[in-house]
Amino acid sequence: MNLSVQLCGVPLPNPLILASGILGTQAGLLVRVARAGAGAVTSKSCSLQPRAGHPNPTVLDWGGGLINAIGLSNPGVEAQIAELRAAKQQLRTLGVPLIASVFAHTVNDFVAVAERMCLADPDFLEINISCPNVEAEFGPPFAADPRMSAAVTSAVKAVVNCPLIVKLSPNVSDIAAIARAVEDAGADAIAAINTLGPGMVIDIHSGAPILANRVGGVSGPAIRPIAVRCVYDIYATVRIPVIGIGGVTTGRDALEMILAGATAVGIGSALYYRGLDAFQLIRSEMENLMEECSYRNLDEIRGIAHERP
Ligand SMILES: Cc1cc2nc3c(=O)[nH]c(=O)nc-3n(C[C@H](O)[C@H](O)[C@H](O)COP(=O)(O)O)c2cc1C
Repeated sequence: MNLSVQLCGVPLPNPLILASGILGTQAGLLVRVARAGAGAVTSKSCSLQPRAGHPNPTVLDWGGGLINAIGLSNPGVEAQIAELRAAKQQLRTLGVPLIASVFAHTVNDFVAVAERMCLADPDFLEINISCPNVEAEFGPPFAADPRMSAAVTSAVKAVVNCPLIVKLSPNVSDIAAIARAVEDAGADAIAAINTLGPGMVIDIHSGAPILANRVGGVSGPAIRPIAVRCVYDIYATVRIPVIGIGGVTTGRDALEMILAGATAVGIGSALYYRGLDAFQLIRSEMENLMEECSYRNLDEIRGIAHERP
């Protein structure tokens, strides 16, 4: 079955995209993920200057999903450009597009890091305006406010020469309003969602929060219904494509995102649960289910949840 999709005119061999922050730090890892069957790969969000991130423990499996407060550790954009350039060459031969993710805490820095990152020649640039784990440092994320989301989108759009993806936060009362604002400001696609939260897990014996940062973003199976609802609301509101991310672990979950309106589907925490095989497994589960349901292709079923009573 042909599962290839077009995202902003760029062909993806299948709709399953490695989400940002998961195995996306080094060229070798990005290429391994592509060889393992990803339809596109997203690099770990990168800032202008290197960042150490939060101390350990930073990630925890709490039973219903993961909670993390990595603190956006990254080597800074200059080191990342070299890494992504190397990755891009190999990804091109595999036919797997590269999505470069950047973040900053001012509009000017977003513009600067986006401009630099374009030197790595990514197929897409993604702006992470929605990380929930650095609020103590930076204040509320841009994605909390439609005006700020639009301001950063239009400023970055003016300096990039590839399609611009804006990654939104579920931690808002009306995600569709934010989606509309970034579409009006020139976004080419929307990625939804980033982690939910922040949340907290407390150790019963010590009585202390387990994450060194005390709070972190929640991902994995527990957030999937929220992610599906966000994709559904965004699809009903905008015309640009949506990448549905959040708790997708099986082919059933991926199809659910497509039915809600997603063009492509991000895979993050599932790599913790199913390893690198996740891409092949999810893909073959999708194919089997599509046959079972007599669905012929993804275009035919995208967004059909909106037409059903
Ligand atoms: C350990 C970890 C690190 C992450 N780092 C980033 C990041 O650097 N940039 C970003 O935009 N999202 C980051 N995310 C969020 C994921 O890309 C994704 O949006 C979220 O985890 C929901 O998808 P999932 O349930 O499939 O994991 C991170 C998530 C996890 C679990």
